[in-house]
This record gives sequence, C-alpha cells and structure tokens, in this order.
Amino acid sequence: MKVPGTTHLDEPRDRAPDSTLMLVNDGYRFFLNRLNHHHQDVFETRLFGERAICMHGPEAARVFYDPERFGRSHAVPSRVQKTLQGQGGVQGLDGDAHRHRKAAFMRLMTEDRVADLVDLFERGWRDVLPRWELSDRVVLFEEAQELLCRAACTWAGIPLHDDEVPHRAQDMAAMVDAFGAVGPRHWRGRLARLRSETWMKRIVAAARSGHVETFEPSALHTFAYHRDLDGELLDTRVAAVEVLNVLRPIVAISWYVAFIAVALRDHPEWRDRIRSDAGGHESELFVQEVRRVYPLTPFVGARVRRSFEWHGHRFDEGTLVLLDVYGAHRDGRVWERPGEFDPERFRGWSSDGFDLIPQGGGDHYRDHRCAGEWITIALMKSAARLLCTTIKYQVPKQDLHIDLRRMPTAPRSGVVIDRVERVA
Ligand code: HEM
Repeated sequence: MKVPGTTHLDEPRDRAPDSTLMLVNDGYRFFLNRLNHHHQDVFETRLFGERAICMHGPEAARVFYDPERFGRSHAVPSRVQKTLQGQGGVQGLDGDAHRHRKAAFMRLMTEDRVADLVDLFERGWRDVLPRWELSDRVVLFEEAQELLCRAACTWAGIPLHDDEVPHRAQDMAAMVDAFGAVGPRHWRGRLARLRSETWMKRIVAAARSGHVETFEPSALHTFAYHRDLDGELLDTRVAAVEVLNVLRPIVAISWYVAFIAVALRDHPEWRDRIRSDAGGHESELFVQEVRRVYPLTPFVGARVRRSFEWHGHRFDEGTLVLLDVYGAHRDGRVWERPGEFDPERFRGWSSDGFDLIPQGGGDHYRDHRCAGEWITIALMKSAARLLCTTIKYQVPKQDLHIDLRRMPTAPRSGVVIDRVERVA
C-alpha cells in the first residue's frame, strides 16, 4: 500500500489466472501466504472467475467499513448465498434499506434479551448433565449444537419438538460448514438450507395467519411483521431467511464452544481463574482471546460502490474486495506477541472497532458488523463458566488438530470428553 501514484496495474498480483483453487488449498492462510510474498497490505488476484482486491491490516479495515466506498449488494458468491446466508437477507443490503433492516435485528439484542438466551442455554446445559454422566464419551461440538439450537428456537419463538432438535441443529451446522466447501460438503449445506427455509416459511406463514402464537420481541414476531421502507411486509421467504439469520449463527457458536474446551485444556490455569471469578471479568478476557486466536471467519467481502484511490491503489466501481479477518489477529502492528495465547492482553483493553474483527468491524448499527456479537460473547462466557464450574471431566487422547486449510475449521475430533461428573 505504498508508492503514491501507482495504478491497479502496478499492484502486486498473483500470477495464476485464477486463485480460487489456491484459496481452497491455503484456507485461512491464503492472505498471509501472499502478503509475505508481496510485502504489501493490498494485492490483486482473480477469485471466483473475477478480478478481486485483497486487503489486510487495521488501516485497510477502516477503509473497508466506509459505507460510502463499499457496498454489499452482489458481494457474496451465489454458492455462499445458497448455503450459509440465504438470498434477500440483511447481508446484501446497502444504505437506508440496510440500516432499517439491521435496526430490526439490533432491537433483539437488548441486555435483558441476551440474558434470557444465556439463561435458556444454561438451563439446557444443566438438563443434559445426568445423561453426560452416564455416557462413555461426550462430543462437545455436537452437544453444543443441539443445546444452542434448542435455546435459540425457544428464544426466537420457534415451536420445536424435542425429537426435531437433532436434525434441525444438524441442518443449521451444515449451512455453516458449507461456506468454504466444494463437493459433498457444499451440497449438504444446500440441502440443509432448502429444508430449513421450507420449514421456516411454514412457520412465518403460520405466525401471520395466527396459527402459531408470537411474542414480542422475538425473532419470529420481528420478521413475520417487519415492514421494509416501502411499507410492505417481507416476502415469506425473506422473512424465513432473516429468522434463520438469527438461529443459524447461534448454533455456529458451537464452533467457539469447541475452541473454548481446547483452550481450557491447553491453558488449565484459566480454569481456576474462571471458576473463582464471580464478576465474569476473567471469562471475558479468556473468550476475547479465544475469538482472536481461533479461526472461524477467514475474510469478509464487499464491492466498490464508487471508484476511489487509496494509498496509490485504484479501486474501480464494482470490484470485489476481500478483507483478511484471520490475518488481522496475527498482525504484529496491532497485537504484541500475536502468536501467544494470552487473555491478559485484554485487561483494560478498549477496541477502536477495527482491531478485533472475528465478527466484522465498524459499528453494529451503521455497518455490516455482526448483529449477534454481544450474544456470541455472552454465550461463550457462559460456556466457559459452565465447563469450569458445573462438571469435572477428562479429555482423553484424541485428534484435536485444527486444520487451517479447511474452512470452517474445528478440532478434528469435535472435542471428546469423558468421565463427566457433576460438581455440586
Ligand atoms: C459464531 C459466532 C459468529 C460469528 C463468527 C459471526 C460472524 C459474522 C461476520 C464475519 C459477519 C459479517 C461482517 C461483515 O460483513 O462485515 C456477521 C454478520 C452477521 N451476523 Fe454474525 N457471527 C456470529 C454470530 C452471530 C449471531 C449469534 C447472530 C444473531 C443472533 C448473528 C447475526 C448476524 C447478522 C444478522 C449479520 C449480518 C449483519 C449485516 O449485514 O449488517 N451472528 N457475522
């Protein structure tokens, strides 16, 4: 990002005609591998059959979250819309239309409502402990998906029978698991989305016709009755996509639950700190460091709204631009000793909005920053506390490898625990 006066023709470029396969092969390290090679925070490549500019670093993040310069319409490849995100949802809106829809999400995120969700999750957790005690082995990643799915549906006002929980949870997880996939994993995600949208369209229609009761402020009520700026109710399918935009990412917190369990195993001194801390400060430090260190979101994408130049680089209207998220948390300009797991770095820390960005940067209301970030942090703190205070357990020998070439990645074994005993 140096040399003033250069044009995009002078930008460091990948030589390959299209780097999509390299992205699939390099996974989370796609940006870092190329940044080491190009020695710049910006480089140009071809991805998904089109020219793309890749950006890295805190300065780049600030520019990327300038809504005058970047928009989200058509920024996400259709294969990701057909699995992870759905079509017509808040992620692809810009300007006033975005702010209006986003405000509906943010109204669900009050302190009281977040506390209600944590409470549902904790009650569900306590309910399964007798079964865990009797089990030879418990796969935490899978168990967390079911617990989170159950809590999310109750919280969002979605009727769900007990026997539906496993396959609905699997579908939510399959949509997330498909985002960086080609082949069978991608197709599993597509089928999961089809099934989930069909299910949710039925529920939205039933809510609108009075066959399912709704309560305010729940996600079902909010999106069944939300009116866009034109004063019209959302199309049933779009309302379903938005309700799923609440349920699916809550289930995705299971990825973080698995990472928390690994971090607690590797840094057992934090177990005692979390156990003896009533105020939740220690668990806050711990989960922020888990969000920094463990990989979930690899990058985020946008399109140039209006052509501009930045540090000598030309950004032409319509160009796809990707911001490195994984690499942002390994940047020595922002984080001291970025390779070390050290929750202490967050004591007294305050964010400028563009440093810790596992769920996007900027402002929650104005920008596309994740609507569910406060929920995520609250549920992660709860999971860390529950793992430290409600049970004793062993982590038997297993393959906990986190493969950075797989997106999204998780500890390979799903984190098996055994000899679970409830703590009085
Ligand atoms: C595992 C935890 C989560 C991760 C890693 C995550 C990550 C992200 C990322 C990277 C973005 C895009 C940011 C951008 O484009 O700049 C995003 C957006 C979003 N997230 Fe999350 N998220 C999580 C949990 C949640 C939860 C719990 C909810 C809701 C309950 C949620 C709802 C949303 C919504 C609605 C958007 C779209 C926001 C917009 O376009 O304005 N997410 N999330």
